[in-house]
Amino acid sequence: MKQTVQTLREKKQQGEKLTMLTCYDYLTAKLMDTVGLDLLLVGDSLGNVMLGYEDTISVTMADMIHHTAAVARGAKNTMVVADLPFLSYQTGVRDAVINAGRLMKEGRANAVKLEGGAVVCDQIRAIVNASIPVVAHLGMTPQSVNAMGGFKVQGKSLEDARKLLSDAKAVEAAGAFAVVLECVPAALASLVSKQLTIPTIGIGAGAGCDGQVLVYQDMLGMFSDYQPKFVRQFACVGDVMRDAFVQYKEAVQDGTFPDAAHCFTIAEETMAQLEQEVKA
Ligand code: KIV
Repeated sequence: MKQTVQTLREKKQQGEKLTMLTCYDYLTAKLMDTVGLDLLLVGDSLGNVMLGYEDTISVTMADMIHHTAAVARGAKNTMVVADLPFLSYQTGVRDAVINAGRLMKEGRANAVKLEGGAVVCDQIRAIVNASIPVVAHLGMTPQSVNAMGGFKVQGKSLEDARKLLSDAKAVEAAGAFAVVLECVPAALASLVSKQLTIPTIGIGAGAGCDGQVLVYQDMLGMFSDYQPKFVRQFACVGDVMRDAFVQYKEAVQDGTFPDAAHCFTIAEETMAQLEQEVKA
């Protein structure tokens, strides 16, 4: 059964950790759906891991809808959260509601996520008023990479830590049902988690968060462009894939693939007749 805004809040109250992974396609969603994760995130990180961009800035609404719809078709039992991409909500409340609505209506997402604190609270309120559940995202917010001067840990100074805490309270008050904390010192993320009634979901924010999220290609050891400090590799799927590609190439080259087991047959007399005709 899919989690809801209410059941996720109850899990926090009961001290049960929330589990979320990113997901961008039908096949992976179907696999993940068998595991009992709480949430799948169609992150705009698909710009990096699926499309090869160096950041998430170029990701479009069309990209997000396309991938969200594929994930939603595979995730029958898991709540699907889709990212609002850069400039789909920062431009105003109307754009925010229309684009969040498209992720739900065309992509069949169950909720949307957007980046920012107090500055996007009007958007959060408006989207929630349109009956669309919202996850907020604080700390290192990749859509602001140019303004932040790179991908850096956030909230280390007293002033920045105060701001992060007040942003977290602001997004909760605006109606967000959860908040992702990315690249935030563990002690600060833990304090924020205790101060909020809504769950926090950490990525590079320590074990004091109410849940965790990772980009699945990172935790499977498939993505080698860079390796953030906070990622644990739970498998080396990239190596398994590369080995299989090499074996395939060699089998084709040496003629051992395809063999009889992987071929279709035709009646001998049919072939004999055809060969006669070709000779004639
Ligand atoms: O886009 C994404 O994958 C994200 C996670 C890193 C939280 O926002």
